[in-house]
Amino acid sequence: MNYVIRVWTESDIGGIAAIMCSHALWQHYGVTLASATIRLVELFAAREKGWVVENDAQQVMGFILYNTSTFGNSGYIRLFGIQADATHHGLGQDLLRAVERDLRDHQVNRLVLLCTAWNHRARRFYERMGFEKIGDLPDWIQDGTTEVLYVKHLDRG
Ligand SMILES: CC(C)(COP(=O)(O)OP(=O)(O)OC[C@H]1O[C@@H](n2cnc3c(N)ncnc32)[C@H](O)[C@@H]1OP(=O)(O)O)[C@@H](O)C(=O)NCCC(=O)NCCS
Repeated sequence: MNYVIRVWTESDIGGIAAIMCSHALWQHYGVTLASATIRLVELFAAREKGWVVENDAQQVMGFILYNTSTFGNSGYIRLFGIQADATHHGLGQDLLRAVERDLRDHQVNRLVLLCTAWNHRARRFYERMGFEKIGDLPDWIQDGTTEVLYVKHLDRG
């Protein structure tokens, strides 16, 4: 699969929102095309950092949004997803590495994220990418749903 990774722009918002709505993960939190779009517009206006991966037809196949303000001076991955039919091709790994490179370039040595406890596929992915589980956060984003806090130390190997 041919693809390029580039910094996100406002024109990516529709494509990102569509990917979010197609995944059971965001459906679980009640995210709709409208609510995702509103949130992404807010994040773009607030200068959230982000990368997208796009194919030869310039369609957005995945995204990762992050900042260095939510968790002290650590990096924090806020939203991350790959279009369902494009998973398992290394796109997620490449996007995550782009974030890690950018953070290291800015002397940020810790990367933090929350992952829904039942999202075993994503948890396996993060653990393979070197994230350590810190602990469970029950009812954190939504009552009845547990989030798992992960951290990766970017200066350790
Ligand atoms: C989690 C997610 C972002 C991972 O993205 P991805 O592009 O599938 O990630 P990768 O392809 O880099 O790695 C996924 C798996 O494919 C394997 N893989 C990578 N490149 C591959 C290739 N060329 N051929 C075959 N398998 C490959 C990896 O070994 C990995 O295995 P794992 O299941 O043991 O982790 C994606 O599954 C997703 O969008 N999920 C829904 C939304 C979500 O859960 N987001 C995270 C919120 S916290």
